[in-house]
Amino acid sequence: MATDLFNAPIGQPVTRIEGFHKVTGTAPYALDFLPDNVAHAVGVFSTIGKGRIASIDTSKAESMPGVLAVLHHGNIGPIYRSAERLQPNSHASESRPPLSDDRVYYFGQFVAVVVANTFEQATAAAAHVHVKYDVEKPATMPSEAPMPAGNARAQYARGDAASAFSSAPVQIEGFYSTPTEMHNPMEMHATTAVWKGDKVTLYETTQGVMNHQGVSSEMLGIPIDRVEVICYFCGGGFGGKLFPWPQSALAAVAARQLGRPVKIFVPRDMMFTTVGHRPTTQQHLRVGATHDGKLLSIEHNVVQPTSMLDSFMEYCIGVTGMLYSCKNIATKQDVIPLNIGTPTPMRGPGTTPGLYALESAMDDLAIKLNMDPLELRLKNYAEIDESSNKPYSGKHLRECYQAGAEKFGWSKRDPRVGSMRNGSEILGWGMATSTWEAGRGSADVRVRLMEDGRVRVSSGTQDPGTGTYTVMAQVAAERLGIPMHRIHVVIGKSNLPPGPMSGGSTATASVIPAVAKACDEAMNAVLRAADNAPDLGIHDPESATGNVNHSKPILKMTNGYVHAADAKPETGKPFGDVLQALNLAALEGEASTHPNPEMRKYSGHCFGAQFVEVGWDPGIARLRVNRIVTVMDVGRVINKKTARNQVLGGVTWGIGMGAFEETIYDPRNAKPLNNNFADYLVPTNADVPKTEVIFVEYPDYHLNEFGARGVGEIGLTGVASALTMAVYHATGIRVRRLPIRIEDLL
Ligand code: MOS
Repeated sequence: MATDLFNAPIGQPVTRIEGFHKVTGTAPYALDFLPDNVAHAVGVFSTIGKGRIASIDTSKAESMPGVLAVLHHGNIGPIYRSAERLQPNSHASESRPPLSDDRVYYFGQFVAVVVANTFEQATAAAAHVHVKYDVEKPATMPSEAPMPAGNARAQYARGDAASAFSSAPVQIEGFYSTPTEMHNPMEMHATTAVWKGDKVTLYETTQGVMNHQGVSSEMLGIPIDRVEVICYFCGGGFGGKLFPWPQSALAAVAARQLGRPVKIFVPRDMMFTTVGHRPTTQQHLRVGATHDGKLLSIEHNVVQPTSMLDSFMEYCIGVTGMLYSCKNIATKQDVIPLNIGTPTPMRGPGTTPGLYALESAMDDLAIKLNMDPLELRLKNYAEIDESSNKPYSGKHLRECYQAGAEKFGWSKRDPRVGSMRNGSEILGWGMATSTWEAGRGSADVRVRLMEDGRVRVSSGTQDPGTGTYTVMAQVAAERLGIPMHRIHVVIGKSNLPPGPMSGGSTATASVIPAVAKACDEAMNAVLRAADNAPDLGIHDPESATGNVNHSKPILKMTNGYVHAADAKPETGKPFGDVLQALNLAALEGEASTHPNPEMRKYSGHCFGAQFVEVGWDPGIARLRVNRIVTVMDVGRVINKKTARNQVLGGVTWGIGMGAFEETIYDPRNAKPLNNNFADYLVPTNADVPKTEVIFVEYPDYHLNEFGARGVGEIGLTGVASALTMAVYHATGIRVRRLPIRIEDLL
C-alpha cells in the first residue's frame, strides 16, 4: 500500500488523514475550545409564531446564581446587517440581525440570551426570563398565505409547451410534494467567541470559514483583519452550515460586552427552527408524449414557502429544461412567505425535490404508456443541454444506465404490478436518473516545503466530513512525489489563503488545481534557490564522469529530490537537505486558480442512475428497501473511499426523503412538533440496505486538469422517485406526496 501511495495517491481509496482524531475524541470541535474564564450563553426562544414582544422581565433571571447578563433587543446594542452583494463572502443566512427589534417572525427565534458562569446556571436562569407577547396568528401552511401575484420568481420556456400538451396523443398530469426537511448534523451549530483587545476569534462549525469571517466583520462592525474564524473539524453541515446563523454574532457581541470569552450552541429542538431547513415543495407537472414515448412537452410549476425575513428559493425547476430532449418546455417557480425560519440550502438543494417530481412524472408517463421506465428515459436522452444549446463537458449517463441495469438485473423485471415475490414479500423495482451540476470556484493554496522533509499545504477552506483534508494531501503527495505521511494539511482558518466554501459539491474540483499549482511554485522556489547557490554537490551524469566541464547542471525536482535534469532523481539530494545546505527553514509557493474559461462553452453536470428494490410485506404492513445500485458519472474520482462514502450518505438521505423525513408545524404557534430525533424520523442502519456504488470514471478535463467533479450531493438526487416507483411496482399504489407512509399503502 505504501508503495502504491508513493507512486500514485490520486484515485486510491485512502483513509481519511484526520479520521484518527475524530474516532479517538482528539478532534476539537467548536465547543471543545476552553479559553480561560469562559462564560456560557443560553438562548431564550420565542414561543409564538408571529407577533411582538410586549415586555421582557429579566429581574428574576438576573438575580440567579452566576448570571452575568441577560441580553435582549432592549440592551444588546448594535449588531449590523451584513452588506450582502457589496463584497463576496458576506452572506448571512438570516439577513435580520438577531435581537434587532421586538418583532417575532417565527417560533424558536432568539428573543434573549442569558450569560452565566456555567452552562447549568445559564440554563436555569433562561427558564426564568419572562416574555410577554402580543400574539398574532402565524401562517404555517402555503394555503394560509396569499398566492404570489405578478411575475414568477423564476421561469424558463422554450417552444410552446401548453399547445404541445393539448395536442399530445398521450398526456399525464400530476401533483407532487416533498416534505419540510431538517439538516440536523451531529454537531449542532455552536460558537466559542474570544476577544483579545479589539480582535475576535470565533471557533465555529461552518462550511465556509472565509464567508463566516466576512459576515462577522460586517455584523460586528469591525475590519475583517480583526476577525479570525477557526473550524478545524466540523461535525456535519449538509448546507445548514454554509452561512452564519444568529448564534454566532450573539456569542461575539456577548463576549465583547462582558469582556470574557463566551460559548453558545443551538439546542437540538431549536435546530428545527433557527438554523434553516429544506422547505416543502408543491409541484405540478404536465407532460405530453407520443404513443411510443417521445416527449412533446413538459410543464413544471413549483410553489414553495420561504420565511418572512428572507427570500430563499429552493430552485427546483433548474433541471427540468436540461435533463431530457424535448422541444416544448415551460417552467415556473414562486415562493410564499410564512412564519417559519429562513430556509437554506440542504444537500442537493433545488435539484433534489425538482428532480423527484420530474422523474416521478416520467414514471407516471411510463405507467400510462406501459413502457419500461429505463427505455422511456433512453428514448428521450439529451445529447446536448437543450436549455443552453451547449454540449455537455462530459456526459456518460448511458453508461450509467447500462452498468446499473446490469448490476441490478433490471432485464429480469416483470413489469406487472405485484408480480415479483420473495417469500412473504412482494418485490418492487424502480429506477431514476440523478444529476448535479459540475461546479468549480476560485481557490488559493500555499505550499511550504520544509527543511525536515515535510510539507505544509494550507488554504482557507474546511472539511465538513467530505474528505477535503485527504484529497488535498493526495494531490500534494502525487504532485511532489513524496509519501502522504510527510504532507501536513492545514485548513479551517480564515487567515490562510482564501479557499473555497464546502458547498455545491465544488470544493474538491476548486481546491485541487490550486494545490497542484502551489506545489509547482514551491518546487520552483527550491530550484531557483538551488540554482543560485554555490555548489550543492548535485552533478549531472556527464560532469560526474568528468567529461564535460560546465559549472552547473540544469536542476529538476522529482519524487522530492533535487537532481540534475539528465540524471535519476536519487542521484540528487532530498529537498530538505538542499534547504539545510542553503540555511533555509522552508520555501513556499502560492497559487490562485480560477474556473477554466473554456468551461463557458459547455454545460457541466454530473449524472447517475439509481436502481432501487423494495420489499412490501402486506401481512405485517412492512415496507423495506432491500437493495440499491447507484452508478455515478462524476468525472475522475480522486479518492474512491471518501467518494463512495459521500454517495452512500446521499443515498441514505434519499431513503430518508422518500420514506421517513417530515417536519410537522403546529398551526397554532408554528412550532415544529416533531423537533427531536425520536419523532423526526431518519433512516437507521436497519433501514439502509446493501448499497452498490459504481463510478464510471470518465475524467472531465474541461472542468479541471484532474478531470474531477464533485460527488457530495448527486447520490441523493434520484433515490426518492426510484423508491416511489418501486413501491408502485410492488403495490400498485402511486405515492406522490413524500414521505411514503405505511398508511398510504394500506
Ligand atoms: Mo451543500 S447544500 O451546497 O452544502
